[in-house]
Amino acid sequence: MKIIVTGGAGFIGSCFVRMALRERWAEHVINLDKLTYAGNPDNLRAIGEDARYRFAQIDICDSEAVGRLFEAESPDAIIHFAAESHVDRSIHSPAPVIQTNFNGTFTLLEAARRNRIARFVHVSTDEVYGSIEPPHEADENFPLRASSPYSASKAGSDLLALSYYTTYKLNVSVTRASNNYGPYQFPEKLIPLMISNALEDKPLPVYGDGQQIRDWLYVEDHCRAIQSVLEKGRPGEVYNVGGNRSLPNLEVVERILQATGKPESLITRVTDRPGHDRRYALTNAKLTRETGWEPKVSFEQGLLATVDWYRNNHSWVQRVKSGEYRRFYELNYANRSE
Ligand code: NAD
Ligand code: TYD
Repeated sequence: MKIIVTGGAGFIGSCFVRMALRERWAEHVINLDKLTYAGNPDNLRAIGEDARYRFAQIDICDSEAVGRLFEAESPDAIIHFAAESHVDRSIHSPAPVIQTNFNGTFTLLEAARRNRIARFVHVSTDEVYGSIEPPHEADENFPLRASSPYSASKAGSDLLALSYYTTYKLNVSVTRASNNYGPYQFPEKLIPLMISNALEDKPLPVYGDGQQIRDWLYVEDHCRAIQSVLEKGRPGEVYNVGGNRSLPNLEVVERILQATGKPESLITRVTDRPGHDRRYALTNAKLTRETGWEPKVSFEQGLLATVDWYRNNHSWVQRVKSGEYRRFYELNYANRSE
């Protein structure tokens, strides 16, 4: 099988590319990535000179370049990760989020339709369901109630992807995963930000009361789920992917302090995020029933592996934290009063 992975230089996409080559999920992997601030060729250094891998620096919104690549390569499947993936950035600057997440997905769906691509997996998020009151949890038929420009752009792109099945019979499946964590995650998201700040003895900025709840999924478990959907998922269907591990943010931060051996005094309460979703919760019963997939890595194991990785990859963190990151960090945290 020859696959095109979009966003394969990002956090989850690069994990999928590394695993696809290692586990021989595909014979050829083409990574289509624009290399935004979040795309980092260093994430793929482990691949070395593997002849089964090729990189194409392309913006998914560039319909001509995308069309040329699809025509030239005739891939069997597209796994679509590329996105502007951060809620806080989408609040400060929504335009690129709508452009990439909605219009970029449209460009890819059109190219897939025109080139009769046999399979399309659209990678999405449980954030499209919005904040969920306990004790409820979202199944795939739960209403879409996106709160941020990020989650709204993903909800829109999910519907667009599904419409390509209904209207054109393009073989599309949509996955909706909970919060991922693991090595190579850009330190703008909760877990890598808190680990890298703790390791540098910097304040850990907790939004509001820190009692917001997220379900945590180890990135390799997510990639195995996507592979299961690629192989066994039904066209026109949505599959939730959760880690079966719900925790309040403050507890996650406290566990990071324990794992790094740093004091609680590093925790700093800062002004809450506007429109902050209180609780995400989902069931992945459908995915397990139809494909046999289950998360394998416990939060305890996954967090220790992640802390170890950040401890041992200080130069990766330093490189991504330079330049553009500093500007965003100032914008996002300097204006939040305690
Ligand atoms: P990321 O921000 O780490 O990486 C995004 C990648 O997409 C980068 O390599 C970037 O260069 C590329 N990209 C961005 N805009 C592009 C464009 N216009 N053209 C081509 N490439 C472009 O993101 P991630 O955390 O790896 O998320 C990957 C996907 O998984 C996203 O679709 C996201 O919505 C979804 N998702 C993420 C999480 C999570 O917790 N991180 C959870 C559920 C779903
Ligand atoms: P994040 O990693 O941005 O993922 P998402 O908003 O997509 O769930 O944030 C996870 C949770 O952590 C969310 O409730 C916001 C909170 N948070 C903080 O308290 N402080 C921070 O510095 C960040 C980045 C997030």
